[in-house]
Amino acid sequence: MKLTNRLQAIADLIQKDVMVGDIGSDHGYLITYLVEKGIIKKGIASDINEGPVKNCISTIKSYSFEDDVQVRLGGGLTPYHENEIHTAVIAGMGGELIRDIIIESKAVAATVKTFILQPMTGQDVLRQWLIENNYRIDKEVIANEQERFYEILVVTHGQQEETLEPYMSHMKIDEALTYEIGLKMVCDENYEGFIEKKIRKYETIKEQIEKHGKGKNEKLIQTETFLTKLYEVRTCIQTSEK
Ligand SMILES: C[S@@+](CC[C@H](N)C(=O)[O-])C[C@H]1O[C@@H](n2cnc3c(N)ncnc32)[C@H](O)[C@@H]1O
Repeated sequence: MKLTNRLQAIADLIQKDVMVGDIGSDHGYLITYLVEKGIIKKGIASDINEGPVKNCISTIKSYSFEDDVQVRLGGGLTPYHENEIHTAVIAGMGGELIRDIIIESKAVAATVKTFILQPMTGQDVLRQWLIENNYRIDKEVIANEQERFYEILVVTHGQQEETLEPYMSHMKIDEALTYEIGLKMVCDENYEGFIEKKIRKYETIKEQIEKHGKGKNEKLIQTETFLTKLYEVRTCIQTSEK
């Protein structure tokens, strides 16, 4: 099976031979790929909706993986027992929904060792909640699919380290959250592209304010401060790549 760049980046973060639960599995491509490639021996796929569960069952059947992958109907972590899964993948949903899924099933979540989270929106709402609730972001990766950048977080239990990555050591956690640039990003060309896209967005906003605004208003000052920080991060990424 060939995965999209986004799902491939998620698959690359799964440790060998752990028990994986794919929450919101849809067609079940991720779990099927993991078993097909021998990364895991067994896994569980679950989804809140019947249609995706049916699609997942049919994918699993087409690979004859019925003995290796269980498919369950149910929301969030509710179809799982405590200590049943080592790694929970929750991908392709909003950050607020991912947060609510973890809150809803505190006891199960407490026994999950690693979460691979891929929020489509509300990334920093999720990051903020995680670090305020004794979850720790250990690593973050950007996946690039046709110039759309997806943020993927590897999360474990424990307190977030105060020290950020070397390319943003001049920043505090609060600032990194405000500027929406991640806390533990792998510093590669995808991350550079992600920052570059943000720079283009805020340069356009600045141009628009300068064109239509009156003088140096608060919005312009805020945008310029934001851009200065993004330029600093870009310079640090480029320097650390050499
Ligand atoms: C956009 S798809 C993402 C599928 C896959 N995880 C991926 O990243 O490609 C979202 C899936 O999550 C399911 N879903 C939405 N809310 C859910 C919840 N609370 N619990 C479990 N599944 C959910 C939907 O039915 C849908 O199949």
